[in-house]
Amino acid sequence: MRSRYLVTTAIPGLGLPLLREAGEVTILPEAPDYETLAALCASGDYDVVLTQLRDVIDAPLLARARIRGVSNFAVGYNNIDLDAATTGGVMVANTPGVLTDATADIALLLILGTARRVVEADRLVREGRFKGWAPELMLGSDVSGAVLGLAGFGRIARAVARRAIGFGLEVIFSPRPPGDRPVSNEELGEFAGRVRQVPWDELVKRSDFLSLHVPLTDRTRHLVDAAVLKRMKPEAILINTARGPVVDEAALVQALANGEIAGAGLDVFEDEPRLAVGLADLPNTVLLPHIGSATVAVRNEMARLSALNAIAIAEGRVPAHAVNPQSWT
Ligand code: GLV
Repeated sequence: MRSRYLVTTAIPGLGLPLLREAGEVTILPEAPDYETLAALCASGDYDVVLTQLRDVIDAPLLARARIRGVSNFAVGYNNIDLDAATTGGVMVANTPGVLTDATADIALLLILGTARRVVEADRLVREGRFKGWAPELMLGSDVSGAVLGLAGFGRIARAVARRAIGFGLEVIFSPRPPGDRPVSNEELGEFAGRVRQVPWDELVKRSDFLSLHVPLTDRTRHLVDAAVLKRMKPEAILINTARGPVVDEAALVQALANGEIAGAGLDVFEDEPRLAVGLADLPNTVLLPHIGSATVAVRNEMARLSALNAIAIAEGRVPAHAVNPQSWT
């Protein structure tokens, strides 16, 4: 029997042609709600589901599902209950590596854009309020010489560090906040002597830019809460290209409104696509619609990887980017 693929949202490039060559492909006409997706997964009509971040694959859905695996069109997989998938023998795969540089670029863009007030400045020009060069027009803060604190030190954080060193920032990091894990010089590799590990509390207190690069887990949900925001410098700027719920967004709005911190550059939100009340009214923010990986080349690569992962799973092979390879043992 030919493999059967359920694709919840059409993907670009080679993704769909690869799947069509390998089997029968069903593409849903619109993003499914939870019940629709749960019923489709339980139908026994599909071997593999190719999902997006907004598709919730939780334990109750997995308990009813008759699928071999889930291929997520993303590097993060917090939309999937991994323990339940593993217990249920459902293989999960993701698309790591290909979006590292693009996402790091967006983090840098947010650092530069918040420091130099790019959104406010652009609006001033478009609204006809630019009256010519002036000594105190749109003054921002310096990036070179500032301290960049990286929460997490995985692939994307390292790509940000590489760029930040080029921009003259001093880079410190805490590899697994809120806990600690010593990172050896060997593990630091090219960064040995160029970045410094500090405890999470020191990272919070010292950073001029605090940039988040942790996965969303029970430990990192609201990692940045009201108490952390209070410990940051008043001139500090928070950057989030990871996952919205890592920040208590209501507390962030309060901190920005009260001047507890100076600004925020966000590519992700706690309850996408909704924003916390008041966030969009704050001038000292740069807000992007979760576009960390949104380049033509990267999305094509993600499509190719997610299709290849799906095909491997459907054919009973452990995919190249299995998140829980132990699920089939
Ligand atoms: C995007 O947020 C991803 O995890 O790929």
